[in-house]
Amino acid sequence: MVDYALLCEQIRSLAEASADPVPVLANASALLYDALPDLNWAGFYLVRNVGDMGAVTDGAANGAQELLLGPFQGKPACVQIAYGKGVCGTAWAADATQLVPNVHEFPGHIACDSASNSEIVVPLHHGGAVAGVLDIDSPLFDRFNAADRDGLTCFARTLEQIILW
Ligand code: SME
Repeated sequence: MVDYALLCEQIRSLAEASADPVPVLANASALLYDALPDLNWAGFYLVRNVGDMGAVTDGAANGAQELLLGPFQGKPACVQIAYGKGVCGTAWAADATQLVPNVHEFPGHIACDSASNSEIVVPLHHGGAVAGVLDIDSPLFDRFNAADRDGLTCFARTLEQIILW
């Protein structure tokens, strides 16, 4: 049984040193990857303007936004995810947590690591809009339940409060 309340306390405590999103999200992914059994990836994608920070684009950005890879634990992952694409882009577009028991049955699932069989994605907010997503993958089917969804939602709310975006 994962103690999500303790994880929220731990990330609050770690963020006392700096509320910059990079160290907070780096430590958040490390905490989750260490504390939750049976994971192969835990990390963040952040909403960014297409073309910012040297991102390679195949055309004019036109003010469009995308999800850009943030701090994570696990194997190297895809760098950009479009709005509405995959589990992460769907969570962003719907502004709703996606709990996926079998990723192979999710239309448009983006397979960054072929070991992944189930996934949960929780949106993070700033200023009333989705600012990014927390993405967690497991090699087990049906790895995440309602308790994980509630605990990770609480963890995401904590991150929203403590990060100086
Ligand atoms: N599976 C995700 C892509 C990110 S990786 O899992 C790290 C998706 O479908 O959006």
